[in-house]
Amino acid sequence: MKALDIIHDEHRALGAVLQAFGFVLDGIRDGHFEPDFALLAAMIEYITEVPDKLHHPKEDDYLFVKMRERIPAAAGLLDQLEADHAEGARRTAALRGALVHYQGVGAAAFPEFEATARTYLAASWRHVSREETELLPMARTGLAAEDWADIDAAFEANKDPWSGPTGQFRALFSRIVNLVPAPYGVGASPTKV
Ligand SMILES: [Fe+2]
Ligand SMILES: [Fe+2]
Repeated sequence: MKALDIIHDEHRALGAVLQAFGFVLDGIRDGHFEPDFALLAAMIEYITEVPDKLHHPKEDDYLFVKMRERIPAAAGLLDQLEADHAEGARRTAALRGALVHYQGVGAAAFPEFEATARTYLAASWRHVSREETELLPMARTGLAAEDWADIDAAFEANKDPWSGPTGQFRALFSRIVNLVPAPYGVGASPTKV
């Protein structure tokens, strides 16, 4: 089940950046960190590009298609997860717009940016959690070996590991780790006090 391992890996990497993003928001809100707009932009790029461009299309095109064929009971769940994927582009635009506004206006716009960002984070967590706790267990028990052979072959053929076709997302992930303050990253702490 190569495909399952790839999906888990991508969820883990995405989860790490989502968590780091929440930590950075906490630090700015509580007055511990000055906003680092390069870091915020890098994190937003990661948490939107990886799902929208790499991860969700693979789920939609291979795993979900096969599950619809083989597991009728999964239809309702798949409808909801596909709706989340479709909603992704709209949520991404809102989050990017909120960052541009925050950077232009400054501290007075932080609460609005934070509210949009927290909404995005919550929706992403909810989506990944449903896949980890409901979708993947259902796939594991409901699909047969030959189904997995087809899905794995498709994942292999369309190899887009979480690093991205040219490795750009691996580089972006490393950059984020280098910028995020400890304990979530190894960056220098942009502490105010
Ligand atoms: Fe998904
Ligand atoms: Fe997923």
